[in-house]
Amino acid sequence: MAMMILPNDCPHDDVDLYSDEVIQNPWPHYTRLRDKGPVVWMSEHGNYAFTQYSTVRSALRRPELYISGKGVAADDFGCTHLQGNTVASDGARHDALRGAMQPPLTAQAVQQYRSRIEEVADELVENALKKGTVDAVEDLAQGLPLAVVRDLVGLPDFGRENMLKWAAAAFDVLGVQNARGQAACEAIEEMRVFIQRDVTPDKLKCGSWTHRISEMSRAGDIDPDLAPFAIRDYINPSLDTTISAIGHLIYYLARDPDTFEKVKLDPSLIPNAIHEAIRLGSPIRSFSRHATASVVEAGVEIPQSARVMMLFASANRDNDMFENADVFDLERKNARRHLGFGAGVHMCVGMHLALLEIECLIETLIRRTSSMSLLDQEVVLNNSICAHAMLKVRLGG
Ligand code: HEM
Repeated sequence: MAMMILPNDCPHDDVDLYSDEVIQNPWPHYTRLRDKGPVVWMSEHGNYAFTQYSTVRSALRRPELYISGKGVAADDFGCTHLQGNTVASDGARHDALRGAMQPPLTAQAVQQYRSRIEEVADELVENALKKGTVDAVEDLAQGLPLAVVRDLVGLPDFGRENMLKWAAAAFDVLGVQNARGQAACEAIEEMRVFIQRDVTPDKLKCGSWTHRISEMSRAGDIDPDLAPFAIRDYINPSLDTTISAIGHLIYYLARDPDTFEKVKLDPSLIPNAIHEAIRLGSPIRSFSRHATASVVEAGVEIPQSARVMMLFASANRDNDMFENADVFDLERKNARRHLGFGAGVHMCVGMHLALLEIECLIETLIRRTSSMSLLDQEVVLNNSICAHAMLKVRLGG
């Protein structure tokens, strides 16, 4: 457990947000925490949680006070294991990493990949329709993000299983030092060794994103010590997050025939549907920050050096921001204002790519399917990712 700083005037709660039971259904716990107040002392984790939309957003927009460079996991274990990558860095280091990664990921740049992404989406939907009943996670959601890493990131082939295992492990470590967090260390080490040994300039696909980073490193445009971090950041945060978002959207469309019908009749609703799925599903449940100075938030004094969890998933269901927040509402006016991609300087650098992938897949699926019905589902047990492990859906041809 981290430092024990329990202020007298702060509401507290002893839930373990990383237990199997809470991961399977975190929503009632978030409601209770929001009801207790915008700042809650989490006695099980030895840290504070920001629970409501306005507090989380405001903290994310003060990166000098709430820094990321000391890690974004919920305890010291995760923070020391994953440090120095884009999401867990500040200032000049963060600018250098984000600046190196960003050019192919801007809203405009990703459009050049649209036709390739549509091709993969078409193939996935074609195969799924042949099956009729599918596991939408394995048969639909995983395919596009994996193809992007293979084709655009341009790494030497290290296999679907490894990619998914390493990406999930990175998110397990970003929770707490429970059995899942500890087990993930081995996979993270495997990936580090792979990148060091196999990701050499001669093995990178010419013109790919990793090739670009390697060229920048050779030309002195990025510190060679930073290059492996930028390479890893094209992979680790891009798979489970996008797979989760696609899964949530298919879940909301398949569980209610009226919603599916509405989107089929009016595909202009697709962008809002995507944002609603990300708002309600919150692919990353929470990350944390380190307070560089003592500060009073909503009447509670947060001491210097405290660790503070930004509960994205709780903020996204705050009724003060989103009316009837638990409802999937295709016509919600402020659907895009969710914190599913974060906010401020660390706001997701891959969001335009993710949105394009989800749009291409869902647009194709809705166009080519006459109906979708949900048959069964299972939740992923991961310390940070909120997603389906399995989503059995029947597709009408
Ligand atoms: C639906 C899909 C996605 C979701 C929900 C998502 C969510 C997030 C969130 C919440 C953050 C902010 C974390 C924080 O402030 O502590 C973030 C940052 C980040 N994401 Fe994503 N992400 C997605 C897709 C992607 C993709 C496709 C990539 C890579 C191509 C990516 C790469 C990154 C990186 C590198 C950061 C760190 C940015 C920075 O610190 O400046 N993400 N993401």
